[in-house]
Amino acid sequence: MSDDNVRTESPEQRIEYLENRNRYLIEVVNNIVDILGTVVEFRNLDSGVHVKRTKAFTRIMGMNYMKLEPDSGLTEQTVNEISYASALHDIGKIAIPDSILMKPGKLTKDEFEIMKTHTTKGDEILGGILSGLEPDTYLKYCMEIIRHHHEKYDGRGYPDGLKGDEIPLSAQLVSIADCYDALISERVYKAAYPKDTAFDMICGGECGIFNPKIMNCFMVSREELEREADRLEES
Ligand SMILES: [Fe+2]
Ligand SMILES: [Fe+2]
Repeated sequence: MSDDNVRTESPEQRIEYLENRNRYLIEVVNNIVDILGTVVEFRNLDSGVHVKRTKAFTRIMGMNYMKLEPDSGLTEQTVNEISYASALHDIGKIAIPDSILMKPGKLTKDEFEIMKTHTTKGDEILGGILSGLEPDTYLKYCMEIIRHHHEKYDGRGYPDGLKGDEIPLSAQLVSIADCYDALISERVYKAAYPKDTAFDMICGGECGIFNPKIMNCFMVSREELEREADRLEES
């Protein structure tokens, strides 16, 4: 071995050490983020089912979108990561008072403004945990989804009013899965809608405007989504 090789060994080892450390820290962050997800579940009685179904619907949408839009860059692995990350979409609700979260009835304008901050609060929480760490793709999806799952294609969503393809695809997939489940589920403020009504409501723009490609995928996925909803209702 030449002297040169000996000299380059040390920086390589240093890089390896830093890479291992980053990997380890990312693992710790993943665990903390998962725990936060269960905190949300514990605080809201029906969100355990909601989390499960949103995850399943996101996966169906993602797999079909991957086939319908081969240029989207989605792969089976990234779809799985997005669906797993979807479980954390409402993590920021940890910071919303119970009086608003559990209110049986329509929120006032001011209450709704507070409710909307679950997107930015969630972003702050995850950002704080990450603090300077280079996130892996899964955590990147978590961040996109947590902040942007209420953005709308026409820019009328929140918190950033992103438009069209400015909205990360991960967040667009979770957004429609989340809306569909919210409609077919009973909530403290509303009864559950039948699946065909929920489908028509989303197509009719009741939940805001979605990307036409996402809408097409939703239509293609209809039967699969309904079957999955039935299956998860029974389980
Ligand atoms: Fe949300
Ligand atoms: Fe949700």
